[in-house]
Amino acid sequence: MSRKFFIGGNWKMNGDVAFVKSHVNFINDTEIPANTEVVIAPPYIYLDSVRKHLKKEVGVSAQNSYTKSSGAYTGEISPEQLKDLGIEWVILGHSERREIFKESDEFVGEKVAHALATGVKVIACVGEKLEEREANLTEEVVFRQLRAIADRIKDWTHVVIAYEPVWAIGTGKVATPTQAQQVHIALRDWLRNNVSAHVADHTRIIYGGSVNGKNCRDLSSEGDIDGFLVGGACLKPEFSDIVRTKA
Ligand code: G3P
Repeated sequence: MSRKFFIGGNWKMNGDVAFVKSHVNFINDTEIPANTEVVIAPPYIYLDSVRKHLKKEVGVSAQNSYTKSSGAYTGEISPEQLKDLGIEWVILGHSERREIFKESDEFVGEKVAHALATGVKVIACVGEKLEEREANLTEEVVFRQLRAIADRIKDWTHVVIAYEPVWAIGTGKVATPTQAQQVHIALRDWLRNNVSAHVADHTRIIYGGSVNGKNCRDLSSEGDIDGFLVGGACLKPEFSDIVRTKA
């Protein structure tokens, strides 16, 4: 089953005007392997500028969007507005949104459904906390998070699932290829048993959590790791090595 390798760069709340300029030039100069899709996710205020100056073969993603199209929702952005700017993707359900901003599984599911219905593609994040892993609850947690999405959508064509164990995010403590692969297989089996064989075979499941230029090749050798969602390292020159994992 061939699934196009996917590299997302999540800037989180980092960057400024000068960085946008230099990073866009850096990405524009990076040769993207034919079998790889690259999407970068700057903060909202830079989306328009990044989309205007970035080469078209690289996608642009927001880091969040709301469940409504417009209205009195101070501080929120709708997928309709993203579409208006030509922004193709949105990251939803990131653990930082779930933890810091108290987003529930159901709310994430509603946001995923609304973004997809609007025509914005979704990087949907799931992942367990350290105490959950230690209590052997990893599968229970990621299946519950996935269920809240699966209950609200029918078409998975424009969904990428990002498995991001919370204990590996920004900690330098990357999951081993085997640890990541085990959860990716479990997620794919869940899709097979609860959605369809077609969705299980075609949906890309990417890994996020302390991916860098040194560990990306090992991780990518696992059959169910279809790419990465990269945080810290996407802001550094080594991001081009990650983009070229499959070169
Ligand atoms: O969304 C990417 C992410 O949370 C991983 O961050 O800094 O561990 O690569 P980092």
